[in-house]
Amino acid sequence: MSMRRKITVGAATACTLALLAGPAGAAAAPGAPGIGDPYYPNSGNGGYDALHYDIRLNYQPSNDNLSGTTTILAKATQDLSRFNLDFLLNVQSVRVNNKVASFTQQGGELVVDPKATLAKGSDLTVVVTYSDSPSTKSVDGYTAWKKTPTGALAIDEPDIAPWWYPSNNHPTDKATFDVSVAVPDGVEVISNGRLTGTTKQINGWTRWNWRSTKPQNTYSTFVSIGQFEIRQSTSPSGLPVVNAYAEGLGEFEGAAKASVERTPEILEFESGFFGPYPFEAQGGVVTGGIGFALENQTRPNYDTAFWRRGGNTYVVAHELAHQWFGDSVSVHGWKDIWLNEGFASYAEWLWSEHVGEGTAQENSDYVYSLYPADDPFWDVLPGDPGAANQFDGAVYDRGALTLHALRSAVGDEAFFTTLQTWVAQHQYSDASIDQFIALAEQVSGQQLDDLFTTWLFTKGKPAQAPGTFSVS
Ligand code: ARG
Ligand code: ZN
Repeated sequence: MSMRRKITVGAATACTLALLAGPAGAAAAPGAPGIGDPYYPNSGNGGYDALHYDIRLNYQPSNDNLSGTTTILAKATQDLSRFNLDFLLNVQSVRVNNKVASFTQQGGELVVDPKATLAKGSDLTVVVTYSDSPSTKSVDGYTAWKKTPTGALAIDEPDIAPWWYPSNNHPTDKATFDVSVAVPDGVEVISNGRLTGTTKQINGWTRWNWRSTKPQNTYSTFVSIGQFEIRQSTSPSGLPVVNAYAEGLGEFEGAAKASVERTPEILEFESGFFGPYPFEAQGGVVTGGIGFALENQTRPNYDTAFWRRGGNTYVVAHELAHQWFGDSVSVHGWKDIWLNEGFASYAEWLWSEHVGEGTAQENSDYVYSLYPADDPFWDVLPGDPGAANQFDGAVYDRGALTLHALRSAVGDEAFFTTLQTWVAQHQYSDASIDQFIALAEQVSGQQLDDLFTTWLFTKGKPAQAPGTFSVS
C-alpha cells in the first residue's frame, strides 16, 4: 500500500515537470557548468560542442581596453534550457540565434538563458559583446593576461581564454578560429595560423586578421600585441612561415633568431619521427614577459629568457614537438599532461642526438642519475601529477625517461610505430594515457603494465635506469 502510494506520487511529479519544460515536452535541462575534468571542475561546459570562434576585437594598449565581439558557432548536444561559457570580462550583451538572451556572470562563468529551448542537434550562433580591462581580472590571485609597455600578451596554459574571449574552455572541445584585432597604427598583432590580411580602418587603426583552419585548443589560441619585427617566408614544404621578434631584444636578438629561424628545419626533422606536420602554417614569437615557452598551434611563443645566455634550439624542438603532442593530439583530461610534456621533452633528446650533443641514451642516463633516490622529484607521478604539479619537472624529465624505458623495452621499430600510429589515430582530437598504454601494448605485442605502473604511477626512483635492462 505505502509502496503503491509512493509510485503514484512519483508519477505525478514527473508529469508536472514535463509540463513545466514547455511545449517540446522533452526534458530540456541546463548544460553543466564544467565539462567534467577532475583537475578543473569549472573548466569547459556541458551541453554543446563549439565548432568555430570568430573573435573580433579592438585593443587600446594605453589603457588596456579590450572591446568587441566573439561569435561562436556551436551545436547543442542535449536539449538545452541554458548553457555556460567560461569568461571573466564584463559582458554587455548576448544573442543566441539572433535573439537577445539574458545572462548572468559569476566566478568565471557566463550563464546564458536563451529565449527558447535549444533542441539537441540544432545549430547555435552565440554573439557575445564585451568591453573590459583584462589585466584587472584575477582568479585565485593570478592574472594570465599580461599587460606590457607596448601592448599585451594572451599566452598561458591551462587557462588564457577566459581573459579575452568566451569559450568552452577545455582541450576536448576544439574548434577553428578567426582572430581579428584592431590596434592603433604602428602596433603589431600576432596570432595563430595564417595572416589573411591587415586592413586600415577609417579611425586610424589597423585590423589584423588571423585564421586557423584546423581544430585548435582554447589554450593554444593566443594573441601577442606590441612592437614586433615580423619575418614572413615560405617553408621548403610550401607553408607560410611567420616569425615575430619583440623589439629591444638587444644582444640576444641574434641568438633568438638563430634558433627560431630554424623552425622549418626542426619541424622537418621531427616529422621524420612523428609523421606529417599537421597544420597549415609555421612560425614562432619571441617576447619578454611570459617566463615560459608555450606551444601555441602553428606558432609557439618563447620568452626571451631562453636566449639571454646563448643559443637554444632545444626549446624550439620542444615546442614544435607539441604541435603533434598537445596541439594535434590533445589531452583528454588535464591529468594526461604527460602525453604533452613527456613527449616534447623526449623530442629534445632526439634533437640532441641529431645535432651531436648527446644521444637519447646519454640524456636518459644523465637525467636518471641527476636525481638521487631521496629527491622529492620522485614523489610526483607523471601519470597523475595533480593540478598543482601539472608542469612539475617530473612530468617533463621522468616523463621522458618513461618513453626511453618504453623504447628500450619494445625496440625502435615498435616504439616509433607506436608514436606515429598514435598521432595518426588521434589527429585533431584528444586522447588519454590509458589509450596510449593500450596502443603501445598492441603495437609491441608486449604486456607493459609493470613498465608504466613503475614509471608513471609509482612514487620513488625506479630501480633500473631506462635502457639498462634486457628485453624479455
Ligand atoms: N606547455 C608549456 C611547455 O611547453 C608549459 C607552460 C607552462 N605554463 C605556465 N603557466 N607556466 O613547457
Ligand atoms: Zn612543453
